[in-house]
Amino acid sequence: MQLALITGGTSGIGLEFARALARDGVNLVLVARDPARLDAVAAGLSGTFGVAVETLAADLASRDDQERVAGRLRAGDIDVLVNNAGFSLKNPLAGGDDALADRAYEVMGRAPRVLAGAAASVMRDAGRGWILNIVSVSALTRQDSYSALKAYALALSEVLALELVGTGVQVTAVLPGWTRTEFHDRGRSKRSKVPGFLWLSPARVAADGLRDARAGRVISIPSKRYKLIAAILHALPAGAVRALSRKVKGSRPAPNSQEDHR
Ligand SMILES: NC(=O)c1ccc[n+]([C@@H]2O[C@H](COP(=O)([O-])OP(=O)(O)OC[C@H]3O[C@@H](n4cnc5c(N)ncnc54)[C@H](OP(=O)(O)O)[C@@H]3O)[C@@H](O)[C@H]2O)c1
Repeated sequence: MQLALITGGTSGIGLEFARALARDGVNLVLVARDPARLDAVAAGLSGTFGVAVETLAADLASRDDQERVAGRLRAGDIDVLVNNAGFSLKNPLAGGDDALADRAYEVMGRAPRVLAGAAASVMRDAGRGWILNIVSVSALTRQDSYSALKAYALALSEVLALELVGTGVQVTAVLPGWTRTEFHDRGRSKRSKVPGFLWLSPARVAADGLRDARAGRVISIPSKRYKLIAAILHALPAGAVRALSRKVKGSRPAPNSQEDHR
C-alpha cells in the first residue's frame, strides 16, 4: 500500500489511522473542513514519519465537495480509502431538526457511499486496494437516528464487500465502541456516565481495523469486550435488541439537536 485517503484524518480515529499508515511508510491525503488544522497535522505527520501528506479541505455535507473528493479518488493512485469523517448526533426522528438530519446523512451516509463507489471502481481495475468504513457498534442497536445511519453504513460495506469478492479489493467495516476522541466533546455527551472499562483508545481502533483489513475480514470489532457485546446483540431476537436499545437510550442525556452546525 502506497497512498491512503482518510476523511476526518485530522482528529481522533482518523488521525490514528493516518499515524499507523504513515508509520508503515504510506503517503497520505487528508480530508477535513478546517484548512489550518489540516496543514498543521500534515506538517506534523510528514515531519515525524517522513511521508508525503497532501491535504484536501472539504465539507462532506456538501455534494460538490463530495464530488471533489471522489474526483481525487478517480485519479487512480490511491490504494487505501478510510471513510471516517462523522459526528455525534442526538436528533429525534419525530420533531427533530431536519436540516441536521440531512447533514448527518450526507456526511455519514451519502459521502461514504459515493467515495467508496469511486474508489471501488478504480481499485477493481487495478486489482488491489482497501476500503475501510468507520461505522460503530451502535449499528447493531436501534438507539437513535445515529444508530440507523451507522446500520446503513454497515449494510453498504457488506454489500460492497460481496460485489468485490475475487477482485483483490478488500472492504472492511470497523465498528468501534466508545472511543476517547473529540467526538464526545463536540457532541457534548456526558462521558462520565460511561463506565471506564468501555472506553477504547483511537490508536487501538486503528490498529485493530488495519490488522483485520490485512487479514481479509469484512467486519472489524476492536477489543474483546466489544466483540462479546456484538455477539450478544447478534444472538438476541430483534425485540430484545429494541428493548435493550430503549434502556441504554433512556439512561443517556436528553436529545440535543445542536450537535454540529459548523
Ligand atoms: N468516538 C467514538 O466513541 C466513536 C465510536 C464509534 C464510531 N465513531 C465514528 O468514528 C468516526 C470518527 O470519529 P472520531 O471519534 O474520531 O471524531 P472526532 O475526533 O470528532 O474527528 C472527526 C473528524 O472528522 C472531520 N469531520 C467532521 N465533520 C466533517 C465534515 N462535514 N466534512 C469533512 N470532515 C469532517 C473532523 O475535522 P473538521 O472538523 O476539520 O472537519 C475530524 O477530522 C465517525 O464516523 C464516528 O461516527 C466514533
